[in-house]
Amino acid sequence: MTQKEQRILEFVKQNAVEGDPQSVLDHIDQYCSQKEWAMNVGDEKGLILDNVVKETNPTTALELGLYCGYSAIRISRLLKPGGRLFTVEIKPEYAAIAKEMIAFAGVQDKVEILEGSAAVIIPSLKTKYGVDHVDFVFIDHFKERYTQDTKLLEESGLLKTGSVLLADNVLCPGAPDFLEYVRTCGRYDCTNYPSHVEYSDKADALEKAVFKC
Ligand SMILES: C[S@@+](CC[C@H](N)C(=O)[O-])C[C@H]1O[C@@H](n2cnc3c(N)ncnc32)[C@H](O)[C@@H]1O
Repeated sequence: MTQKEQRILEFVKQNAVEGDPQSVLDHIDQYCSQKEWAMNVGDEKGLILDNVVKETNPTTALELGLYCGYSAIRISRLLKPGGRLFTVEIKPEYAAIAKEMIAFAGVQDKVEILEGSAAVIIPSLKTKYGVDHVDFVFIDHFKERYTQDTKLLEESGLLKTGSVLLADNVLCPGAPDFLEYVRTCGRYDCTNYPSHVEYSDKADALEKAVFKC
């Protein structure tokens, strides 16, 4: 199952500059746009992700859905000194690839990989990992879990006023119940960012939801 992901990692190791996150990102994009498509957020939506991370300037960031580490590298390269990214991945084989990718990019000191399902890990973030709250959350795991895991973040007391959620793939494959929830529950200010599915011209979008209270 990890053969493609292993090939992405090997391409990066053979061609990218070790310790240079941008070089690693560029080579993942090159491989996945020219050789084998993969479900990284990609270069086009990645620029939107970069801008939201920059405007949020998080101390503590959380990612749901690590895959090969592409977006974790994008986020962590923008963190201020002392900033941390916790990233959750349910599949150990993806987490193993991402661990090597992140180390090759040289951002391993800013990233903590948490293996398991978001539903199990979110409630343990305060007690097990000493997280008081999260400033920024990139939601990019199982689309059917977006709403439930957002509610879990709220119930676990991890969101404070100004915490920013950014959800990928809200158009393709789509997360209609999540959009309905964040846009109508009254707890979030929402912004939609139209874009395209990674490495394609098919329409997709990201949704930003800023927690009010
Ligand atoms: C679209 S990929 C993430 C891509 C990554 N954020 C990037 O842009 O580089 C989705 C990942 O979420 C993981 N995943 C799916 N359901 C999950 C869950 N309930 N908890 C944690 N990870 C999950 C999948 O195994 C997969 O690696």
